[in-house]
Amino acid sequence: MSEKHPTRLTIRRPDDWHLHLRDGAMLQAVLPETARHFARAIIMPNLVPPVVTAKQASAYRDRIMAALPDGAGFTPLMTLYLTEDTNPADVAHAHTSGIATAVKLYPAGATTNSASGVKNFDKVRPVLETMADIGMPLCVHGEVTNSDIDIFDREAVFIDKVLKPLRKKVPDLRVVMEHVTTEDAVDYVRDNHKNLAATITTHHLIINRNHILAGGIKPHYYCLPVAKREAHRVALVQAAISGDKRFFLGTDSAPHTDPAKLQTCGCAGIFTAPNTLSCLAEVFEAAGKLKKLEAFTSLNGPDFYRLPANEDTITLEKGDPVTYPAQIETADGPVTVFDPGFDLHWRVVD
Ligand code: DOR
Ligand code: ZN
Repeated sequence: MSEKHPTRLTIRRPDDWHLHLRDGAMLQAVLPETARHFARAIIMPNLVPPVVTAKQASAYRDRIMAALPDGAGFTPLMTLYLTEDTNPADVAHAHTSGIATAVKLYPAGATTNSASGVKNFDKVRPVLETMADIGMPLCVHGEVTNSDIDIFDREAVFIDKVLKPLRKKVPDLRVVMEHVTTEDAVDYVRDNHKNLAATITTHHLIINRNHILAGGIKPHYYCLPVAKREAHRVALVQAAISGDKRFFLGTDSAPHTDPAKLQTCGCAGIFTAPNTLSCLAEVFEAAGKLKKLEAFTSLNGPDFYRLPANEDTITLEKGDPVTYPAQIETADGPVTVFDPGFDLHWRVVD
């Protein structure tokens, strides 16, 4: 094996710090795709109805465990969906009893099933202060929802108008900016050394807005936050391959059935769980930074969440193009798998 062009890579087992598993038949179908390679994942709470209380999170965790394939060693790390009525004592109980790892903030109306999200941030201040006291992270969907703000500017405006003031009011709150899509967000994280990190998705490292809109509309590339200009994608790649501890993988793998995506008002979400690690190895190799893949997928996330990195490993090998299904079948209908638009050569072999 040449040092310069490795064809085999062994890294600590990855975790996914942002994942949608859904429920029922969809959960049953998509969970094995993540459990195959990942040890843990932060599970998004935007079910219908949302997972708001410790009791609901505990019941959802039980459903996930029951849906796991036999022998799968996978740990779901649960989150609570923050509403204006969330009770600080329930959040503290969820954290100290090990039921929930983090709380998720959706600005009301920002994305799929976010109608119960936060409109008035002053109303959730007591919860945020409790979380700061106990060191519980807040996962943030960082987009404003005002109809007068252009959809491509919503993340940058959120940083200025919501996140900066919020972090000033509750400076000890530990915040994860989820699925960052802009150079603005990367710069903001880089400039703030305390209590701030960001996840980056697989697809935002690969697609820009042209992939969605040029040469015909591609609903399977539509997600939120929507992919931005190429310069932003390049900034995300630079952050991911840098090894900087504040950036780590959160796939935001978000399955919707094809009928739900391919309609007049199609759902946002890209399903990347089946081929995420192959895609990432390709991106890091193209940047000449394969040796930084482990930090992004397996070390930086546990470091921020104050959890041990996984002890066991996975091995990727480079070879002939990888075949993966274009869709997976679920009892709710087919779900299309992310197409990176290029051949994948890295496969998880062990
Ligand atoms: O594209 C997205 N899909 N973005 C989100 O924030 C939510 C997710 C979903 O739940 O489908
Ligand atoms: Zn998400």
